[in-house]
Amino acid sequence: MSKICVIGTGYVGLVTGACFADFGHQVTCVDSNPERLDQLRRLHMPFYEPGMEELVAKNVRQGRLSFTGDLGRAVRETDFVFIAVGTPQGRSGATDLGFVFTVAKQIAPHLTGYKVIVQKSTVPPGTGRKLAELVRQHLKRGSKARFDVVSNPEFLREGAAVDTFMHTDRIVIGADSQKALKAVAGLYRPLYLIETPMVLTNLETSELIKYAANNALATKISFINEMSRVCEAIGPHVDVNVVAKAVGLDKRIGSKFLHAGPGFGGSCFPKDCASLLHFSKQFGAPTPLTGAVMKVNRDQRRFVYDKILAGLGSPRGKTVALLGLAFKPNTDDLRESVGMDFGRWLLRAGIKVKAYDPIAMPGAQQELPGLTYCPDAYTAARGADVLVVVTEWNQFRELDLGKLKRIMRRPAIVDCRNIYDPRTVREIGFRYQGVGRGEA
Ligand code: UGA
Repeated sequence: MSKICVIGTGYVGLVTGACFADFGHQVTCVDSNPERLDQLRRLHMPFYEPGMEELVAKNVRQGRLSFTGDLGRAVRETDFVFIAVGTPQGRSGATDLGFVFTVAKQIAPHLTGYKVIVQKSTVPPGTGRKLAELVRQHLKRGSKARFDVVSNPEFLREGAAVDTFMHTDRIVIGADSQKALKAVAGLYRPLYLIETPMVLTNLETSELIKYAANNALATKISFINEMSRVCEAIGPHVDVNVVAKAVGLDKRIGSKFLHAGPGFGGSCFPKDCASLLHFSKQFGAPTPLTGAVMKVNRDQRRFVYDKILAGLGSPRGKTVALLGLAFKPNTDDLRESVGMDFGRWLLRAGIKVKAYDPIAMPGAQQELPGLTYCPDAYTAARGADVLVVVTEWNQFRELDLGKLKRIMRRPAIVDCRNIYDPRTVREIGFRYQGVGRGEA
């Protein structure tokens, strides 16, 4: 059992803290926001994530997980200091490291003995080394404290965060010091008991791995989205789902992240692509492929949006039903969300939008009050001229299409995630448009 403090209770911090506590470690989560702390102490999660509330509650109850605003004390009393604060995208596309460096300065005066500082949130190569320098500069005068900085990127996916932390495909740990590498590897003992592969490397390699991984996934998505446009151009009988299935059966390619749609969103892929594009240029090795992936992604959003407009004719007096506002199912995260962009663009075009999302509506209402929020998918669809399925929630897969046809003004579906069988939907009498599946 080790003593860990995790600074930052955002997505990465809270999931890391709760999962480490569940491994049996003693974890203190630190946040500077008193409201957030208060909320967490009352076991109210700051975001929706399946299984999180139960995991946090269980570990708090069993005395392994606590929350504090006292960073100094938390640092003094632990062996491992995880930094999991936000690394937002700056204006130039570069990662804004302000929060990380502020925390480094705050940690330094409280270091005693030997501690391992672990950088968990995604940061460009070279950051760990800068962080170490900053901490060194801010140690107490005459301090005998020793520390190592370790990079340990997180690969969890929102909406399946606990599961992807506990059953990750690999653990990546980077450091100059063998002692620190071993110590951090030891924290993951329960995972290497289930033979989770571990990549132990140096700081910069570890930092780059996270960007390389996210960019590889984003590239797969943009690749299949590009193919979806080729499919449509060839003719209405060509289906990108079949292409993706056959291509993905090649084990060298793999079938995951090969689903055509309206492009990727969320807090990670767009930001990490922009960051790689920026820092690779600074290192003198530009990554034009990343630039192309981002462009295809931007264009794809418009390409799918135009399908909505194309089916509507004149926008005057028209109503669109929008299903799915968060950037993907099982999360209430609205960052870089396609649904929110569609909502904004439709309103701007003078079209009425009736929207439904199983969990993201409170946040969406604040951000975009102009939409008409509905208690369920059918209420949203009633009287609409087109139904747009933006995210692939299971409950959207199961909609009663016959009922929808009866209550809509015009039976038309834009299936942004290709979740329906085009023939079935058309047989019921809908005008159906998927992505890369023709118009026939
Ligand atoms: C992503 C990565 O999958 C995680 O491995 C990584 O740890 C995380 O970023 C991060 O850097 O923190 P996340 O953004 O939570 O996770 O969500 P994903 O499930 O990867 O989806 C990202 C976007 O890609 C979504 O908009 C999704 O709809 C889209 N997507 C995904 C597709 O359009 N097609 C696909 O085949 C897969």
